[in-house]
Amino acid sequence: MKYYITTPIYYVNDKPHIGHAYTTVVADVLARWRREKGDEVFFLTGTDEHGTKVAQSAKAQGKSPQEFCDEISEIYKSRWKNLNISNDYFIRTTDKQHKDKVKEIFTKLKNAKTPKKNNVIYQGEYKGLYCVGCEKFLTEKEIVNGKCPDHETKPEELVEKNYFFKLSDYKEIIKEKIEKDEIKILPVSKKNEALSMLDFIDDFSLSRETVKWGIDLPFDKSQKIYVWVEALMNYLTAIGYPDNLEKFNKLWPADLHLMAQEILKFHTIYWPAILMALGLEMPKTIFVHGFFTIDGKKMSKTLGNTIDPDELVKKYGADATRYLLLSQFSFGQESDIQVERFSEKYNSDLANGLGNLVARVSNLLEKNNIETNLQKNSDAKLKSVFDKKMQEYKFNEALEVLWKKLRQCDEIITKAQPWKLENKSEIKNILEPISQNILNVANLLSPFMPDTSEKIISIFTADKIKKSKPLFPRI
Ligand code: MSP
Repeated sequence: MKYYITTPIYYVNDKPHIGHAYTTVVADVLARWRREKGDEVFFLTGTDEHGTKVAQSAKAQGKSPQEFCDEISEIYKSRWKNLNISNDYFIRTTDKQHKDKVKEIFTKLKNAKTPKKNNVIYQGEYKGLYCVGCEKFLTEKEIVNGKCPDHETKPEELVEKNYFFKLSDYKEIIKEKIEKDEIKILPVSKKNEALSMLDFIDDFSLSRETVKWGIDLPFDKSQKIYVWVEALMNYLTAIGYPDNLEKFNKLWPADLHLMAQEILKFHTIYWPAILMALGLEMPKTIFVHGFFTIDGKKMSKTLGNTIDPDELVKKYGADATRYLLLSQFSFGQESDIQVERFSEKYNSDLANGLGNLVARVSNLLEKNNIETNLQKNSDAKLKSVFDKKMQEYKFNEALEVLWKKLRQCDEIITKAQPWKLENKSEIKNILEPISQNILNVANLLSPFMPDTSEKIISIFTADKIKKSKPLFPRI
C-alpha cells in the first residue's frame, strides 16, 4: 500500500524550534513504521518561503529574500538531518518547479466552475487599514490605539483589487464530508472545531496587490498569489501535479496531513475546497495536534524561550531527543514542556532503563561465555499491542508498552541475581529469555530510535555476545 504523509511546510522567517521538530519527528516515526510494514511511503516536508514577513526579515539582515530563504531552508534541512528525519523529499516554495506548477494550477482554477455553476475565482475588492511603513494591511489585533505600533503612524484606509475564491458554494459539501469522516479530522475535538468554524467563514482572497515577494498570478501580473494558497499547493506540486500525472496518481490522495491547531482552518476548509475545485480527491486524514508551551509560557522569539532542536541533539543525541519528545506528551493534546524533565526522563528511562539493562545483560552473557539462540520477532502479542497504539496515534503509550516489558526484565534479573550463580545453564535459563525480550523491544523501537534499535539488534544477534558500550551515558 502507498502511504503519503506530510508535515506543514515551515516559514523561513525564523529558525526551527522544538515545536517544528515535534511534528516532523512524529511524521518520521509514522513514515518509518509504515515502511517497515512494507508500505510504499512518501514522506514530505519543506519550507514556506514567500510573503512580506519573509521579505522584511531578509531586509532586516541586509540580504535579498532569496539569499535569506536559501540560508534558513538549509538550517531546516540540517536540523532534520541531525534528528535522523527520513523525508523522501524536501520542497521549497521558491523552487522553480513549484512556482511553475502553481501557475498552471491557477490557470485551471480560473476556468473552473463551482457545484452551483459559478466561477470558482472572481474579482473583488479588499478594504482594510494599510500601513505604508510595514507595506501591509494591518489586522484589528495589530492596531494599537488606532496606530501601527511599529511605525507610530495612523494606517490609511485603502482598497485593493483582489481575486477571491468562492468558498460559499462549497461550504455545505465540506460540512458533509467532514461529518461523514470522508475527510477524517482527528482528534474529534478538532473535527468539531472545524465544523463550527464553517458557519462563520467567508470567501477568501487568493491574491495580494501589495505583496512583492511571491508568485505572479498568471492572469493578472499586478497580483501575487496569496502565500497561504500556494503553500497548501505544495502537497500537490511535490508529487508532480499537474504535469506528471503518472507519479501524482500513484500517491494522491494524501493519507495523512499533520499539523498543529493554529492552521486548522486552512487545512480543513480552504484546502478541501481548492481540491474540489480542481476535481481532486480529499486527503484521507488530517491530524491536528495541540500547541506546546514551555514552562507554562507561550513559545516565542520575544520571550527568548524557544528551544533549538540542535541543543537537545547535542546534549542527548538524536535518538534520545526523539524519544524524549514522543514519550512525554500525549499526541493531540496541548502540552507544557518542562525543560528539567528532559534530563530526568533521559536518566530514568534511557541511561538507567534501557541502556543499563542492555549493558548488564550483555556483560553477564560475555562473562559467562553464554551462547544464545534468539529469534527475530518472536513476540506476536507485544507487537500487536504496540501496533494498535501506533494505529491510534498514541505514541507515548506505544513506548510505554515497550518500557513496561523492559521493567519486567529488570525485575526478573534483580530477583534472580544471576551474577551470584555458578551453574552456566541456570544462568542461561535466566538470561536467554530476557535477551529475547530485549531483542523484541529493539525491533519494535526502530521507528522511534533507529540507531539504538540497530545497535541493540547487532549486539544480541552476534555469534558471540559482547558487553556493549553504554548506549546512553548518564547526564
Ligand atoms: N507555513 C505555514 C504552514 C503552511 S502548510 C501548507 C506555517 N508555518 S510555521 O512555521 O508556523 O509552522 C507551523 C507548524 O509548526 C505547526 O502547525 C506545528 O506543526 C509546528 N509548531 C510550531 N509551533 C508549535 C508549538 N508551539 N507547538 C507545537 N507545534 C508547533 O504555519
